[in-house]
Order: sequence, then structure tokens, then C-alpha cells
Amino acid sequence: MNLWGKFIDAQAELRKIYHAIAVLSWDQQTYMPKLGTEARAESLAYLEKLAHSRLISEEFSQLIKDLEAVQDDETRGPIYRAARRNYESSAKIPSDLIEESARANSLAIAAWQEAKLKEDFSLFEKQLEKQFELALKKAEALGYEDEPYDALLGVFEPGMKTKDVDEIFSQLKEALMPLLKEVVANQGDKPNLFNQDFSKQGQWDLGIKALKEMGFDFDSGRQDYSAHPFTIGLDPKDVRITTQINERTFPASLFSSLHEGGHALYEQGIPSEWRHLAVGRAASLAVHESQSRLWENIVGRSKEYLLHLWPTMIELFPKQLQDVEFDLFYQAVNWVNPSLIRVDADEVTYNLHIFVRFELERDVLCGRLKVKDLPDAWNEKIKQYLGLEVPSPSKGLLQDIHWSLGSIGYFPTYALGNIMASQFYAKAELDLPNLQYDIAEGKLITLREWLRENIHKKGSTLIPLELVKDVTGKELSVEPYIIYLKNKYLR
Ligand code: CO
Repeated sequence: MNLWGKFIDAQAELRKIYHAIAVLSWDQQTYMPKLGTEARAESLAYLEKLAHSRLISEEFSQLIKDLEAVQDDETRGPIYRAARRNYESSAKIPSDLIEESARANSLAIAAWQEAKLKEDFSLFEKQLEKQFELALKKAEALGYEDEPYDALLGVFEPGMKTKDVDEIFSQLKEALMPLLKEVVANQGDKPNLFNQDFSKQGQWDLGIKALKEMGFDFDSGRQDYSAHPFTIGLDPKDVRITTQINERTFPASLFSSLHEGGHALYEQGIPSEWRHLAVGRAASLAVHESQSRLWENIVGRSKEYLLHLWPTMIELFPKQLQDVEFDLFYQAVNWVNPSLIRVDADEVTYNLHIFVRFELERDVLCGRLKVKDLPDAWNEKIKQYLGLEVPSPSKGLLQDIHWSLGSIGYFPTYALGNIMASQFYAKAELDLPNLQYDIAEGKLITLREWLRENIHKKGSTLIPLELVKDVTGKELSVEPYIIYLKNKYLR
């Protein structure tokens, strides 16, 4: 077999292992009985190790070297470069560091859970120090030019630099702070509509209707329940999403289905002939998040789409909604309110939560801030950005699981996803002059096709900043996002 054939085969073997890992993980979070945990953890650890050893094998690294000339080839180049990026971010990290991290994660998760329950940061402090220490080691192994944060960010957002993120976040901050003040000052009292039970079945049916309208392919995917909603793409033809339905939190489940549905359309839209290749994956976490936020917020929380869903909602929940004015409902689901918990934040304040985490992570990694001083630093920044006092650690820096999983450098991808979503959508509106009217009629397929053609079909042939330029003709910019927020919230 020629070198290229061997290279394709080696990737295919790897993807088959990841396919099995994904099925086992999905099952673990949906249907597996509680006591299955131990055996599942062993299988998953074994398969992860197997996949990693294949990826960093002598044979594969030789193929990467031997095929170097291919990178300038028009068709093979993008396939080669995606595999190489994937190889380099794994191969540079020594196996003992990977094992040490896995052990540290299990300890840190347990410590974090206890500290959160007991409202006592000191129970987590040692483990968190260890996580930052390991993150720094990982950054050293990966290599960086300016600062260690670059290396960690680069794992999630290939080609992006910390100083670019800093620059773009500063611009966003400058626009958001006065915008927030103005919106809050003019918005009146919060409509109290949802403080009652909405049946689980009704909420499930509404979510399924939205998924069907946006073009989620149920022959290539399904929705189930889990404790925290997530998406796993096992394959473009087999994409699993989950939801959480609580009778008291309507309409959160609708937005959750739209969010995960947005992730799922991306996975379903990647060409299936790439299923066994690194190029057949999403371009980055931020690009992935841009798809979920676009559907959840820009489409899902728009007046056009909610008006379209309104008769269905009244039919499903007549007792709760038939006497409600639509405008009041629209206001309630787009209510802006500085709050302490990131995952409950509205569109305007959400990014402020990300700035806090990004700035603190970066300060610790640069040695400007000690882990033991994190709680105070956190509380100060929450005061500065959101004007709130943090009453207890579980509502402060212990709220998110990310740091105990060793995911440091991950948070910026959420805000970058918001920014990209608006930039992509602004271009879609230019290309599709009838988009608003289509959405008002529930014809969401037009938008799905545009996203598929412009973003999904490209897999990871391009790195995120190249993709943004390719799709919109412009560099990544906060401008469309700020315009979107102003148009929506100041009118
Ligand atoms: Co998401």
C-alpha cells in the first residue's frame, strides 16, 4: 500500500476506537445503571490509552514526516494538516503527564464536589493548585511564544492567541458595560409567568417540533434525557443529543433542544466520506458553540420564531398561557438581569461571566495571582462586572466543573462562540434576504442549508480564524455582535 493509503488507514483505526469511546460515554450519561460506573471507567480508560498510543506511535509519526510535502496539495493538504494538528497537540504531551492528569482530575472532581457542598473553598484549594500546576506543565510541553495561556487556548482554538482574545474581549467589554446599564434602567418589572408547572410531555413535544423544523435528521440522530444536556457526534449519521426537563423551569428545555440541536446540525452536516478522518471533525469548540448559540439565541429567542411557536405553546399549555400577552412572554424569555450563575445568564450578561474566568485563569498561569487568593479575586471581579456580592463559594468560583476537569483555557470559547454566531448570521442575512420571513413561518431549513454549505461541510479543513474569513470575507470582529445586541435590547 502507498503512504497516503497507510495514512488514511491509520486515521480510520483511530476513529473506530473513538467511535466506541463515544458510544460508551453516551450510554454512561443516559441509560447505564449507577453501579456500572466502575467497569465503564476501566473500559474507557483502556480505550483512551489505546487511541493515544496509536496516535503517537512511531509508525504514525513517520507517516506525518514522510507526507510533509502533501500539505501544499489542494485536495490532500487540508486532510493532512487536520491530522497533523491533531497529532501534534497529543504527541507533544508525555504519557506520564496524561496519566498524572487523569488521576488529578478524579481527585479534583471529588474535592470540588465536597467543597461546593460544604461551601468551603479550602477543601478544594490543594487540588486546584495541582490543576494549574499540571496546566502549566502541559503548556510547557506544547510550547508557546508569548505566554503559557496560548498553548492551552490553542488546543481548543487552533491558531488563536491569548492577546487576540484579550483584544476582542476588551472591545466587547467596552460596549457591553454601558449597554447593560441602559437596558436594565429601561426594562421595568420582570413578568412573572413561569412560576407554575408545565408538563414534561408538553415540553418534550415542543422541543421535538423545534428540532424537526430546524432540520435535525432523526434517522441520523436522537434525543434522550440526561442530568446535563450535551451532544455527542458518534458519526455524521449518528448524532446524539440530550435534554433535561423540569416542570418548573419552562421554557428552558426548548432553548436546550435548540442549543444542542445547533451542535447536532454541525455534526450531521460534516461530509460522511470524512467520517474516519481528523478533517471530518468540527473546526473548533468556539465554532461549535457558534452554531448552538446561533440557533438557541439568535433564532430561538427572536420575536419571529417565538411568534411562530406561540400557537403551539398555547395548545400544549392552555391553562398556563392562553391569557398571556405574547409581548409579555417575549420580554420574559429575553429578560436581562445580572446574576451570579453563568449557565443561567442572559445574552447580555453572559460574556461578563466569561471575562471573569478568562482573566483569572490567565493571571494564575502567568504567576500574577495565587490560587489561594482566587476567591477574593473572583468576588472582586463579579462586583466590578456585574455589580453583585457573592454570598457563598457555590455561587462564586465553585459553580463550574471545568477547572476540576483540568479544562483551563476553555472558557473563552463560549464568548468567542457568541461573537462568531453573530458574524455568521449577519452574513447569512445578506445572502438570504427572506430569512426573517422564513423564520417567521418556521421554515428553518433555508438557514440550515446555508450553514451546511458555508460551515458544516468544511469540517476542519480551515482553522477557526481562516473559516471566519472564508465565510464572511472579514476578520473575526465583535461589531456584528454588538449591533445585534443593540438592535435587540435597546429598541
Ligand atoms: Co454548547
